[in-house]
Amino acid sequence: MDFYEAVSKRRSVREFVREEIPEETLKRIIGAAFRAPTNDHMRDWHYIIVRDRTVTAKLLDIIPKGISDADMDALIRDWNLSDSVQQACYRSAVPKQHRMLFDASAVIIPLFKQKTDILHPENLSHLNGFASIWCSIEHIFLAAAAEGYGCNLRVPLGDEAEYARTVLGFPAEYCMPCFIGIGRPEDGIAPVPQKEIDLSERIHWDKF
Ligand SMILES: Cc1cc2nc3c(=O)[nH]c(=O)nc-3n(C[C@H](O)[C@H](O)[C@H](O)COP(=O)(O)O)c2cc1C
Repeated sequence: MDFYEAVSKRRSVREFVREEIPEETLKRIIGAAFRAPTNDHMRDWHYIIVRDRTVTAKLLDIIPKGISDADMDALIRDWNLSDSVQQACYRSAVPKQHRMLFDASAVIIPLFKQKTDILHPENLSHLNGFASIWCSIEHIFLAAAAEGYGCNLRVPLGDEAEYARTVLGFPAEYCMPCFIGIGRPEDGIAPVPQKEIDLSERIHWDKF
């Protein structure tokens, strides 16, 4: 698949067909992650691929299985989401947080080493490891799209990352930036409309 085709095919997928992804395909996709740029030339990343349904169920047990209409309205209010397209994106995604991972063929957990306190960086360089793992995560999304699969992601809230550490047993020096669900997209699900971007307003030649 052409690169730009993969870029435009990549969308967040939250509804999947129940289907196994061949191990070779998963290895190719994770291989693409390791071709991403790296801040310290080490690519000290690990990817845990959870396929065992018992482990998946335990790992996701901490994630809320839905949200009431009242709580959803409160979230929109508290987060000051005034844009209607943006609101629709949240209203579509938030209730699916547990199911989109549970129904995926595999849950992928990226891990990167963080040497300083990530929540109190002294300068931007202290966030380079975090930035690098996100580059590799995007390679996964694009590789998955090129293979005919789709991904979603959830940034862990509250104790979710620490809980994942206890379930999956990854060492204390590794941080988990997100959960990734990967699988074959269900047919006939319309992607959530996104904000139109006028490139002529966003590209600035020579000065802003
Ligand atoms: C840093 C980051 C955090 C995100 N967090 C979540 C999340 O917690 N849950 C979720 O369902 N989607 C999450 N997303 C996915 C966005 O909702 C999605 O990318 C956005 O709506 C654009 O839609 P698209 O991916 O289909 O183009 C996140 C994306 C990014 C880049």
